[in-house]
Amino acid sequence: MSSTKRNFLSLLDCSPEELSHLVERAKTLKQNRDWEFRPLRGRTAVLILALHSTRTRVAFETGMNQLGGHTIVLNADDTQLGRGEPIEDTARVLSEMVDIAIIRTLNQEDMESLAASASIPVINAMSSQLHPCQLLADVQTFEELRGPIGGRTVAFVGDGYNMCNSYINAARQWGFNLKIASPSGYEPSPEMVASTDNATLVESPREAVEGADLVVTDVWSSMGHEAQAEQRRAIFAPYQVNEALLDHAPEQTLFMHCLPAHRGEEISPTLLEDPRSAVWQEAGNRLHSQKALLEFLLAEQ
Ligand code: CP
Repeated sequence: MSSTKRNFLSLLDCSPEELSHLVERAKTLKQNRDWEFRPLRGRTAVLILALHSTRTRVAFETGMNQLGGHTIVLNADDTQLGRGEPIEDTARVLSEMVDIAIIRTLNQEDMESLAASASIPVINAMSSQLHPCQLLADVQTFEELRGPIGGRTVAFVGDGYNMCNSYINAARQWGFNLKIASPSGYEPSPEMVASTDNATLVESPREAVEGADLVVTDVWSSMGHEAQAEQRRAIFAPYQVNEALLDHAPEQTLFMHCLPAHRGEEISPTLLEDPRSAVWQEAGNRLHSQKALLEFLLAEQ
């Protein structure tokens, strides 16, 4: 068991200085085409997926491979977890064999139990509460295009769910101002909003984007909310991010979305191709930022 193991379940598991280091390191790794750089040679990651994933999975698998390591992907239902083996026992077994566990689940308790029982680092690859890996890529993308995010203004428009919560943590850690516009009843929890002076609820999407250097949204029905999709479509309709809404933001504003996107719902059909959209660079940066995170947890601690 390593006495220095670190988890990355939340952006709050790192100091602001460590987060800045991760973003800078991701930018460096992005430029690094030296395939002989293999600091994770012989190391193995297990990726436990209880939910679908494209970007997160491909980024972790490709990243481990490029750094010299190896990944085993476990569909949670195909493992003994799906037949009732306790997550605490799974954590202890994995700790005997592999170097890091990465988990995507809506069951926050499972994720925390895995991290508490494992002697290896555990990464949150998205939970019902947070998606910290996405924020590493988002901040990297903003800073590549517009410089330091500290002191800037970000608008989050839409569901006060895991992406919104992660932006609240990011506002706290990187020191930017976050304006959140969510329909009534779909705001982030009062405790999350109160966790930092940098996050404010505003009345309308237009109020959120005015003065914003970055505008962000997410799907209206995240994984786990599919049964509410029809009801949510009606409630969230005034919160669509489209070209007309972005026109109320400064000319230099950027638009980001963690993807996958539902064109015609949370965004207009053409927004991803708008010159203000940085979504493809943002998606690509999942690879570089997750490589920086793997290196940080496995080679630098
Ligand atoms: N943004 C994101 O996490 O994408 P995936 O669900 O495809 O991993």
